[in-house]
Amino acid sequence: MKKPPHIPVLLKEVMEQISPKDGGIYVDGTFGAGGYSRAALQAADCKVYAIDRDPDAIANGQALVEEFDGRLKLLHGTFGKMKELLNDEEIEHVDGVMLDIGVSSMQIDQAERGFSFQKDGALDMRMSQNGLSAADVVNKYGEKELADIIYLYGEERYSRRIAAAIVSRRRERAFSTTLDLADVIRSVVPHKKDDIDPATRTFQALRIYVNDELEQLRSGLSGAEALLNHGGRMAVVSFHSLEDRIVKTFISEKSGKTARPSRYLPDVQETVATLKPLTKKPIVPSSQECLENPRARSARLRSAERL
Ligand SMILES: C[S@@+](CC[C@H](N)C(=O)[O-])C[C@H]1O[C@@H](n2cnc3c(N)ncnc32)[C@H](O)[C@@H]1O
Repeated sequence: MKKPPHIPVLLKEVMEQISPKDGGIYVDGTFGAGGYSRAALQAADCKVYAIDRDPDAIANGQALVEEFDGRLKLLHGTFGKMKELLNDEEIEHVDGVMLDIGVSSMQIDQAERGFSFQKDGALDMRMSQNGLSAADVVNKYGEKELADIIYLYGEERYSRRIAAAIVSRRRERAFSTTLDLADVIRSVVPHKKDDIDPATRTFQALRIYVNDELEQLRSGLSGAEALLNHGGRMAVVSFHSLEDRIVKTFISEKSGKTARPSRYLPDVQETVATLKPLTKKPIVPSSQECLENPRARSARLRSAERL
């Protein structure tokens, strides 16, 4: 049997949270290979508006559009602008929003897209295939700026050392490929056997920066909150702690809990709640799912209902 281009992560769990209904309107903010959209369209006689910033994902999704005969509409753009994209379709409210943050297997597996440090390809990393590339950042940014990006978005303790090595190397020759960059990082970061590859965190940082992923997530969550009907649900799957923290904080703030601004004030301040959390702790994949799809390992699902 042909291997699917992308195995949807936590699919059953996301569908349980969203629970599509006949006549409902749903947003799949990260269409990818369409795993979530397909499952929602099969679960009920509903309509799905699916967004992806990658033109390849939209082009490859046309077969699914035809299969579902008018119930699936693909929108090319970012989920950070989901409200505007839906409003342009004359949709003001929806019954559910699904987000599966990050890159798809198709994007990682295509070496030329530059997301993987295990395959040689152009140092690109742009999901949208336009704008600033990872090569632009690595070859043009100042040493401090690079170190800050690697530290903030990669949580990399050797960020300064890596930035210095990048700047020193590029004086001789600019970076143009993933393996070239990975080798320079590996040459300055201590590596214990069985540890993750030393390039992992820097590649994560560059990807997040190039695609403005954390800001996209913040705007996407606000867009979902604005679009959801009362009783509508959002389900968000994220893959690392920076993203999960944003989702957790957003849901907690919108459910009426804000961080204590001063130790002299009561523990929590009540604000008008717009969301009810449905997952106290994030839902994680079963060991069986991780075995079948190692890319699911770090996934975390949080969901909330619009009040
Ligand atoms: C993990 S994949 C989604 C896979 C999908 N759930 C499936 O089952 O096939 C993430 C997809 O979201 C897209 N994406 C990531 N960030 C985005 C954003 N801010 N706006 C729109 N699409 C985005 C990527 O291009 C990629 O195709």
